[in-house]
Amino acid sequence: MVKNLLIIGSTGTLGNRVLEVIRNFKDRFNVVGLGARQDSEQLALQVMEFRPKYVLLTENNITSSLRDAVISAGSRLFSGIQGLREIASVDGVDLIVIVMGGALGIYPLWEAIKYNRDVAIANKESIVIMGEIVRKLADGKGVNLIPIDSEPGAIFQCFNALNDRRELDYIVLTASGGPFRRLDYNQLVNVTPEEAVSHPVWRMGKRISVDSATLMNKGLEVIELHKFFDVPYEKIQVLVHPQSIIHGAIGLSDASLVALMSNPDMKIPILYALSYPERIETSWKRLNLIELKELTFEAPDTDHFPALRIAIEAGKRGLSYPAVLNASDEVAVELFLNRDIRFTDIPILVEEVLSKHSPVTINSVEEAMEIDNWAREETYKIFNKVMSR
Ligand SMILES: NC(=O)c1ccc[n+]([C@@H]2O[C@H](COP(=O)([O-])OP(=O)(O)OC[C@H]3O[C@@H](n4cnc5c(N)ncnc54)[C@H](OP(=O)(O)O)[C@@H]3O)[C@@H](O)[C@H]2O)c1
Repeated sequence: MVKNLLIIGSTGTLGNRVLEVIRNFKDRFNVVGLGARQDSEQLALQVMEFRPKYVLLTENNITSSLRDAVISAGSRLFSGIQGLREIASVDGVDLIVIVMGGALGIYPLWEAIKYNRDVAIANKESIVIMGEIVRKLADGKGVNLIPIDSEPGAIFQCFNALNDRRELDYIVLTASGGPFRRLDYNQLVNVTPEEAVSHPVWRMGKRISVDSATLMNKGLEVIELHKFFDVPYEKIQVLVHPQSIIHGAIGLSDASLVALMSNPDMKIPILYALSYPERIETSWKRLNLIELKELTFEAPDTDHFPALRIAIEAGKRGLSYPAVLNASDEVAVELFLNRDIRFTDIPILVEEVLSKHSPVTINSVEEAMEIDNWAREETYKIFNKVMSR
């Protein structure tokens, strides 16, 4: 059966990997929708290639090439935040693939579940902010939420080994350790944005690359796993595993450990998320354990990389703290990329914003966005007062 996919964030690093997988399996997947924020030119090329029924550009900079492509393909064009919400409820979609970056990912996720659409999700921001409520809504409606990212995706697959949730003892979340694993503090102070975005294993967008280098990404993933799988923080163990071969594991009540391994290639978790619950045969390179020679593991160094500790603490404090963590970190990463702050200032700034926050319960997307805005403004305020040079 051909699956009809609506892809939001198709112009991003991950979005392009998703399209690459689809090109490999044209007999299995059909693109019915494509969406991006502002990259009108790239989106126009994608529309020309896939001729989707629905097209979204959330910023209103629709170029003539996109307009021409939309007319030629006979697509319906959505725009603005309203469009981001509306497109998730269109007909004829089997799976909504949310690979956009940023907290606004909560809009299509929420609408998709409301309209009983299965979702493959990489947008960790939305799960970090509202994961518990999203999970409850999805479970209540019988909607499948399938993680795309390699680590949550691996744990999702390891869960298949459970006959009963009570058999789950703990989760192992692996981290590559990023490009600066071996640097001391004096070296970390001076790393550049260019160095921070060149990840040793994965090719990713700028924010997630910097987050991987600070280990904030792993902290966000710990919160994501807690909310997505409803597992206590104490039962989530983070391990630095530089080879990135074991993507996730679960410890079972009889002392067994079930792990998911593969070569570090995003195409593999993407294909599983798109084809779930089926597994599609591929000719992709198999894992050769003899070639690998060694797999190493070490505890993360939270003295050099305090973002991991800060994120887990924010997760444990709960309420609106994870939303503040996410928004403040996004702004701090932007400031670092613009060379306004140093790499080591990122966790300091985020921790300062968290300390100023009066937590509230988040019950709706609107409330989540209010907190998100507060955290962004507060981050700029503290930066202007204390850190701007
Ligand atoms: N890259 C990976 O391997 C990877 C792995 C795991 C998880 N993730 C997660 O996947 C998400 C995307 O990561 P990425 O590395 O692909 O980032 P990226 O390269 O920066 O791409 C972001 C994508 O999201 C789109 N976007 C941003 N805001 C949007 C909005 N308001 N409306 C519609 N589209 C919007 C962008 O559109 P424009 O191009 O028009 O700006 C672009 O297509 C993040 O949540 C990240 O944490 C990524």
